[in-house]
Amino acid sequence: MGRAPFPGTFPMRDEQATARQGGTPGPDTEPRDGEASQALAEVWEGLGRAQKEIDPKYFYDTRGSELFEEITGLEEYYPTRTERALLERWSSPWVEESRPASLVELGAGSARKTRILLDAMRDHGCGRLYVPVDVAHEFLSDTARCIRSEYPDLAVTPAVADITAGLTLPVSPPGPTWYAFLGGTLGNFDVTPATQLLRRVARRMRAADRFLLGADLRPGAHKTAADLVRAYDDADGVTAAFNLNVLTVLNREFGSDFDLDSFTHRAVYREDKGRIEMHLVSERPQIVRFPGAGAVALREGETILTEISCKYDRPSLEAVLAEAGLRVTRWVEDEKGLFALVMTARRR
Ligand code: AVJ
Repeated sequence: MGRAPFPGTFPMRDEQATARQGGTPGPDTEPRDGEASQALAEVWEGLGRAQKEIDPKYFYDTRGSELFEEITGLEEYYPTRTERALLERWSSPWVEESRPASLVELGAGSARKTRILLDAMRDHGCGRLYVPVDVAHEFLSDTARCIRSEYPDLAVTPAVADITAGLTLPVSPPGPTWYAFLGGTLGNFDVTPATQLLRRVARRMRAADRFLLGADLRPGAHKTAADLVRAYDDADGVTAAFNLNVLTVLNREFGSDFDLDSFTHRAVYREDKGRIEMHLVSERPQIVRFPGAGAVALREGETILTEISCKYDRPSLEAVLAEAGLRVTRWVEDEKGLFALVMTARRR
């Protein structure tokens, strides 16, 4: 076999020919707009790495968002209920002392826990604007509609954005502004991109602004690595379905032909990296075609990394925060040390 553009991938013959002919459109190469071809190039690049990867943002189509909602209700998946209990305990006192006028929520999803914050802001008579930011646009407009009807005095300006690419807001929120990134979603980012994301928010912040983070914690005295793995590999197979759904999303978005029956779900806790990894395991040798890009070959047992979920303890989170120009002003966790709710401010 000739040299592949990426290890483990090779261009399909007709695309190769098309490329050599200087872009004459073939049957598989209908013209794509810049954004779509950029997205394809990114997916293609991820699938060309030694450890194949798919960006977890592709989980969240309508079905994926529904499956994630279902995960949050699972007995094994403690982060959602633990974070909710912490928000219920701490929202009111924290709102009372900081009196935020606006709330910008990154990765808002269905904004269920957000209501706890919005209630506290309403009770203390300070909340005027809510800006939910998410990549999942179908979900986002529903969320905005619901919040508007539940909070008639609150302005709601949703923003569809990939927060990994930048943070341009449709409005300039009145201060003090609270930013929130809940659910431990920061964990989806490795140290460098996590730092970049935090820094992007930190740069927008004035002295009175705050950034509220939910952080899933590393194993400790009352939390084992097995507890962590169970949260990502539940008995009912909901997380497995959520993981496999990413292939359906790619098939629809990019016309690829992943066969869902020949992949299985795997979750592992990597002690060395302090993170959960979700993989899709190829159960047989196979070739997956990406029209307009090429084809990807997978060996039996080869995996595609679909998500990392980094876990923190106080020192490791403080290190990332400091690097991003943020400092901890409040740190609370549940009695088992499962999950932490962390308030941060710009470093002076
Ligand atoms: C939405 C990124 C916080 O990492 O726990 C849940 C996603 N993946 N189960 C997490 C997820 C599998 C979740 N976050």
